[in-house]
Amino acid sequence: MDRVARVAPGCVQVGSLADMIGLPTFYLRTFGCQMNEHDSERLHGLLAAEGLTRVASPEEAGIIVYNTCSVREKAETRLLGHLGTARRLKAQDAGRLVVVAGCVAQSWGEGLLKEQPHVDVLVGPQSLAELPRLLRDRIVHRTRGAALAESSSVFSADLPRVRRAGPTAWVQIMTGCTNFCSYCVVPFVRGPEISRAASDIIVEVEDLVRDGVREITLLGQNVNAYGREPGFNGTQDFGELLWRLADIPGLARLRFMTSHPKDVSPQLIEALAACPVVCRHLHLPAQSGSDRILKAMRRGYTRSQYVDLVGRLRAASPQLALTTDLIVAFQGETEDDFQDTLSLVRDCAYETAFTFIYSPRPHTAAAALPGCVSHDTARRRMEELIALVQEQSAEMNSRLVGSTQEIMVEGESEDGTVWGRTGTYKMVHAAMGTAAVPPPGTILDVTVQSATSATLKGTVVEAGAAASD
Ligand code: SAH
Ligand code: SF4
Ligand code: F3S
Repeated sequence: MDRVARVAPGCVQVGSLADMIGLPTFYLRTFGCQMNEHDSERLHGLLAAEGLTRVASPEEAGIIVYNTCSVREKAETRLLGHLGTARRLKAQDAGRLVVVAGCVAQSWGEGLLKEQPHVDVLVGPQSLAELPRLLRDRIVHRTRGAALAESSSVFSADLPRVRRAGPTAWVQIMTGCTNFCSYCVVPFVRGPEISRAASDIIVEVEDLVRDGVREITLLGQNVNAYGREPGFNGTQDFGELLWRLADIPGLARLRFMTSHPKDVSPQLIEALAACPVVCRHLHLPAQSGSDRILKAMRRGYTRSQYVDLVGRLRAASPQLALTTDLIVAFQGETEDDFQDTLSLVRDCAYETAFTFIYSPRPHTAAAALPGCVSHDTARRRMEELIALVQEQSAEMNSRLVGSTQEIMVEGESEDGTVWGRTGTYKMVHAAMGTAAVPPPGTILDVTVQSATSATLKGTVVEAGAAASD
């Protein structure tokens, strides 16, 4: 069951959207990153506050909402397929409304309304709060509308939201990105970096913990730059923010993403090593192991600076699990450049990596660079990279067989095993033996009996003393 926050039951107004449309239901499909998933919690909250009920398929919905991603072309192509479905459903019932929210709405702008006549409303990531008004305008005045603010002073974290159930929750600490990596559309669709006041973040985390949440993931495109934008008046370093949040009683685990290597501060290295609730896991996107490509990507660090940073992180925190993002076949990437990426993967001993084939994006500087890598070469490099990453993951996980790992229970599988993650973000399935299945949020010790590149399996050794109290 979902939990409603800041939408008091019974506060649905007369004249709400539910009273205005034939079918008072909505279907919400999310593409893209965790920030977008979190934005969907807000879209859900906004529509629930209008008396609308979420349904599982577009066929049952009066309003069809796609919360979209434009980070790679494939995500947009998938959206077009879904919009085809929406068009067919609208042909069956003209009263149905179709909404495109999120990054594609922002990137394509009003041109999308022209190209897709069955789309009724566009709402960009900085304008989510406008959705109910735009839907009302569509119903009452028959106007197809768009809200596409480039940045917003209303911190969208403060909108009503319906968050996913369970012991884990996301908390947004920043919006936007000002890095302009040459391949990336995010700064164009999410606007400039704006940090949220530490006091607001603390209140939200306290509320969530009171509500039974035990693990928080702080979200931002570049959390390491928290508080650094000119004019921000608050805690000046992300590491300090972690220490302040760690003091909240009842919070068992604190995670964050994403970290930009150029902005990792000594305070962050220290918090990762010493702060008890901060998980010993760092997602540190490298993107490439080649200096030439890193420069063309405008990442702001060299390979040796990145490797040096990894060395300092590991020296401070030997247990640290490191994961990364890598792009292959960037414009002009040679075989030597690609070999540099493979050797970086070996040198940094990543637990795992998200791997992507470069996709030219509108608005971005790299889209105009020469040196397109052929599709076949891109595929071959991708396969080679995935094979190496999986080989390393399997090898590192196999070393854990026989060890005891602490997990936080997130759910129960049909076969009676429980699943959860280690602090280092490894997925673990654990048999309970004779012990009763504990509630989500319980911390358990598990003896690992087998491992693949993606998961660990084991048996619970001790029912956690740290169960939700
Ligand atoms: N703010 C985060 C994540 C950005 S998007 C960060 O900077 O790490 C997530 C990942 O998508 C990026 O790390 C990058 O590896 C990948 N990505 C972004 N734009 C891309 C593009 N045009 N083509 C292929 N991969 C891309
Ligand atoms: Fe994109 Fe770079 Fe910003 Fe990450 S840091 S969102 S890759 S521009
Ligand atoms: Fe996220 Fe995709 Fe937008 S990765 S920020 S939903 S472009």
